[in-house]
Amino acid sequence: MFFLAIETSCDETSLALGRFIAEPSQVSFWSKINSIEIVAALTSSQVPQHVIFGGVVPEVGARLHADNIHWLFENLLSVAAVRLDLTPKDLLSRIVSIFVTAEVGLVSALRVGVEFAKSLSYFLEKQTGRKVSWQPVNHLEGHVFSCFYQQTLVTDSATGAVYSVNQDLVDLSDASIFPHLHLLVSGGNTQILWVTSPNHWTIVGRTMDDAAGECFDKIGRMVGLPYPGGVWLSKIAGLQEANLLDFPLSMKQTESFDLSYSGLKTAVRYFLQKSKVPGFKIEQSLTKPELETLKLPLEQISEPKLGLIKQVCISVQTVIVEQLVRQFGRAVAYWQPKSIGLSGGVSANLLLREKMQNFKPKTVLIAQPKLTGDNAIMIGLAGCRLNSLN
Ligand code: KG4
Repeated sequence: MFFLAIETSCDETSLALGRFIAEPSQVSFWSKINSIEIVAALTSSQVPQHVIFGGVVPEVGARLHADNIHWLFENLLSVAAVRLDLTPKDLLSRIVSIFVTAEVGLVSALRVGVEFAKSLSYFLEKQTGRKVSWQPVNHLEGHVFSCFYQQTLVTDSATGAVYSVNQDLVDLSDASIFPHLHLLVSGGNTQILWVTSPNHWTIVGRTMDDAAGECFDKIGRMVGLPYPGGVWLSKIAGLQEANLLDFPLSMKQTESFDLSYSGLKTAVRYFLQKSKVPGFKIEQSLTKPELETLKLPLEQISEPKLGLIKQVCISVQTVIVEQLVRQFGRAVAYWQPKSIGLSGGVSANLLLREKMQNFKPKTVLIAQPKLTGDNAIMIGLAGCRLNSLN
């Protein structure tokens, strides 16, 4: 009894094939979610196509999803069938549920995944004579659920497929996880969620304007980094923590747990516009050798322009992470959760991951690096909740 999960909300076409293998003795949410086996997951990234535009172009993205989803599905079936010693046709006929990201994302891109799910469910029902449901999944729920999955995920170097190696994990009871306080930080959303059970949560803090990832990306673009700016900016900043250029930390006075990043973005723009550093021009793309030089420690960078960019990267990362950790820390103190969690594309940030560990002794659940960006595995995890994880 297999499920297929589909994610096409933004710039990754991602598919995962898995099965839910919980024993009746497994009663906790933790043991059930970690009983899911990911047989194979494949992702086709559109970053190389969007990089020339400096960001995602929705129409181009939707067309690429439509071009890629069929061959990706065929490859997924082949890879998974080999792993299970079945034929792709046999495997296809054993799919009983299809989970697909249906909301929160680019409308035209989401549409491709949803139409594919509907067509496949129709086809499989006709072919097998039994019900094959397709179920919509919220992309943000996928991110949240990704932190609870701690089975080892490995990548097959020959096929690029990701699969799980299920082990007996130390069991965590529901009482030791919930209530759970969650920090979701992605390219389009930044939220603090109070999760009282796998089925119930409320947003207790959110960005008032830009998402943290969006702020990383826009500032990355201002200093000439390739898309996605957050990935590059964090590589350049490393783990050095210092607000060298004294950029503003917003929401210091607020009573709420909300966040805000547009002030930082504007402050960096004004600072760069006024900068008189020779050779620096706002939004001028950097060359490959310049990007390599930027990975060196600040003291070893002699060129003024690159020195300026390095300082901006270190300062921006410091301020973004500090605001996240500060507001989340206040929320932890107020809500007193049993566990805390971190997910979303920005949760790949090493400085943020390190800081989240300091909230010990609470149980700290951080999405594995393979589950931080957009991926179909997390959609499968959230989809299984709708059926069997309650
Ligand atoms: O979760 P995601 O793949 O897409 C959404 O659901 O929105 O997040 C993408 C975001 C981008 O803004 C990207 O720059 C950011 O995550 N990101 C990072 C890092 N890796 C990805 N931001 C900071 N540091 C990173 N290491």
